[in-house]
Amino acid sequence: MGGFHIRAMDLATHESPQTMNHANPSFVGGVVDGQAPLSGRRGLVVGVANQDSIAWGCAQALHRRGAGLVVSCLNERARAYVAPLADDLGVPLLCCDVEQPGQLDALVAQAVSHLGGLDFVVHSIAWAPREDLHGRVVDSHAEGFARAMNISCHSFAQLARLCEPHLGHGGTLVTMSYIGAEEAVPHYGLMGPVKSALESLVRYMALELGPRGIRVHAVSPGPMPTRAASGLVEFDALMARSAALAPLRRGVTLDEVGGCVAFLVGPDATGMTGQTLYVDAGTHAVR
Ligand SMILES: NC(=O)c1ccc[n+]([C@@H]2O[C@H](COP(=O)([O-])OP(=O)(O)OC[C@H]3O[C@@H](n4cnc5c(N)ncnc54)[C@H](O)[C@@H]3O)[C@@H](O)[C@H]2O)c1
Repeated sequence: MGGFHIRAMDLATHESPQTMNHANPSFVGGVVDGQAPLSGRRGLVVGVANQDSIAWGCAQALHRRGAGLVVSCLNERARAYVAPLADDLGVPLLCCDVEQPGQLDALVAQAVSHLGGLDFVVHSIAWAPREDLHGRVVDSHAEGFARAMNISCHSFAQLARLCEPHLGHGGTLVTMSYIGAEEAVPHYGLMGPVKSALESLVRYMALELGPRGIRVHAVSPGPMPTRAASGLVEFDALMARSAALAPLRRGVTLDEVGGCVAFLVGPDATGMTGQTLYVDAGTHAVR
C-alpha cells in the first residue's frame, strides 16, 4: 500500500482524545440502565488497521452494546496487527482488499455465514495514491483519482449490493466521511471530491434502498490521529486548528464516533436515512 498510509507521524505530543473522559454515570460500557440496545443485531465492520482505526472504535462501541460482529482488515500483513484486537473482543477477523476481484463478495459471504445474517454494515476505508494525495487536485492523474474513488467510494455501493439480499427490514449501512466533502480543506486534496461523491452516494443509496427498509448514513468525524490521517500533509496542524475552532474546544474520541454509529444502526434511529452526521465537537457549525 502506498500513499495514504505512508508517513509515520509522532502523535505522542498530542493529548490523545481517546484518553479524555466524557463519562455519563447512567451510561456504563454502552449499556444504559441494564439494557444492551444492540443485542441480537449482527454487523460487519470493514476497515480495521490497528487500535486507532475508526473502524475499531466502532467495533468496540457496537460490541459493548451487545451486537454480534465480524470485522475485516486489508490483508494478511494487517492481520498481524488486528488479530490481537479481534481476539480480545472475541470476534472473527477476515481479510478483504476491495481492489482484488472477488474479495468483497467473499467477505460478505463469510460474514453472513459466521453471523447467520446481517443487520448492519460499517464501511470505514479510504485510500489515495500518495503522489495524487499530496499534489494539487488539478494535477491528479486519472488513474490515481479513479483508484481513490473506487476504494473510498464505489466500494460502499458494492458492499450495499452484496449485502442487500441479507439485510432485513431495518438494516443499516454506515460509511465515514469528512468535512472536506463540503468545503475545500487545505491538504485534503483529492479526498475532498471523493468524500463529496461518497456523501452523494449515501443519498442515492438511501433513495434506492429505502423502499426495502434499508437505511444509509455517513458519519463525519473531526480529525483523528489514525494511520490513514498520518498520510495527510500537516495533519497535526489540521487537528489542532479543528480543536481550537470547535465549540467544545477539543477533538473527538473513537468512542464518540462509535457511539454515533451504534445509535444509527440501533432502534432509536429508525426514522432516519440519507444523512451525514457530524461527530466533530461542533466544528462544522462554526466555520
Ligand atoms: N482519521 C480522520 O481524521 C478521519 C476523519 C474523518 C473521516 N475519516 C475516514 O474514516 C475512515 C477510516 O479511516 P481511519 O482514519 O480510521 O484510518 P485507518 O488507516 O485506521 O483506516 C483506513 C482503512 O482503510 C483500509 N483500506 C485502504 N485501502 C483498502 C482496500 N483497497 N481495501 C480494503 N480496505 C482498504 C485500510 O486497510 C484501513 O483499515 C476513512 O474513510 C477516512 O477517510 C477519517
